[in-house]
Amino acid sequence: GHQNLAMVTCTAPVNIAVIKYWGKRDEDLILPINSSLSVTLHQEQLKTMTTIACSRSFQQDRIWLNGKEEDISCPRLQSCLQEIRRLARKRRNTGDPTSDVSIVSNKVHICSVNNFPTAAGLASSAAGYACLVYTLSQLFGVEGELSAVARQGSGSACRSLYGGFVQWKMGEWSDGKDSIAEQVESESYWPELRVLILVVSAEQKSVGSTSGMHTSVKTSQLLKYRASVVVPCRMEEMIRVIRQRDFQAFGELTMKDSNQFHATCLDTYPPIFYLNNVSHRIISLVHRYNQYYGETKVAYTFDAGPNAVIYTLQEHLPEFVQVVRHFFPSEANGSEFVRGLPVCSADLS
Ligand code: PMV
Repeated sequence: GHQNLAMVTCTAPVNIAVIKYWGKRDEDLILPINSSLSVTLHQEQLKTMTTIACSRSFQQDRIWLNGKEEDISCPRLQSCLQEIRRLARKRRNTGDPTSDVSIVSNKVHICSVNNFPTAAGLASSAAGYACLVYTLSQLFGVEGELSAVARQGSGSACRSLYGGFVQWKMGEWSDGKDSIAEQVESESYWPELRVLILVVSAEQKSVGSTSGMHTSVKTSQLLKYRASVVVPCRMEEMIRVIRQRDFQAFGELTMKDSNQFHATCLDTYPPIFYLNNVSHRIISLVHRYNQYYGETKVAYTFDAGPNAVIYTLQEHLPEFVQVVRHFFPSEANGSEFVRGLPVCSADLS
């Protein structure tokens, strides 16, 4: 039997950056060349659920992602496991009576599932690593700053440990202790804000973020300028417009930052193409829509893939969804798929 079986289940939501992280100054510790800012989605929408069991009778650490066993020796996974175990032992040594002394040395079995298709390339690693680190911390009784641990799984994961509007401060130190996420405003600060995800392609991304960033840092002059000059200003401005709940400024800045990120991908040598024709049509549609009204009612942003994430306010959402359905007419197979373009609305309130 499984003596001493301890088990914890937690969930972590996806986050979508409005000021993008692209480029590392330290690839082992995952330290970025610029700060970034994102919005964490509501728990009930796009999320990872992770269950971790821990028992004396387990022979080795093991992990299953969406039901399929994966290689536990993955370096990033190992960084997170080692770091949490180290923090748990440290806590035990400082004599905290509430920390569970016995189970830290036991092996763990990790089961992680997404409630959205991993293949859709929707920042699954961010929710995944945030959830892994948080669930481990609950199991081993580790408290405090966890974003520096989640960051070592996947950079963007550190932002999913907080709800609402979250900044990841790049930090200055070489040990990464000050490269952490911080909440700017909570999820209830701007309840009218909505996120609409337009799945353009469910295919895996062509160039992963790790190798893409590596090549960009080595070859793109534009990325140097972006990280040193543009992003520091934009971070300040983005925080200001969020605090003012100024959607027009928020939307414009979000689109500009997405565009500059993809411009640095084109400036990378050899170039990286994440956007496809449908992505470009969505960009044009958004600009035509905003131009028609003479104000920024909707904004797009794209990560390392062709899928569009639309930010808008609740009052504009129904009409914009109709416009999208009109230009990407529905196929026979129901409301969810719009000519290979599943529309999924995620509200933040
Ligand atoms: O954390 P990673 O390695 O999956 O990189 C994420 C990079 C972007 O999604 C493109 C931008 C961001 O800030 O999330």
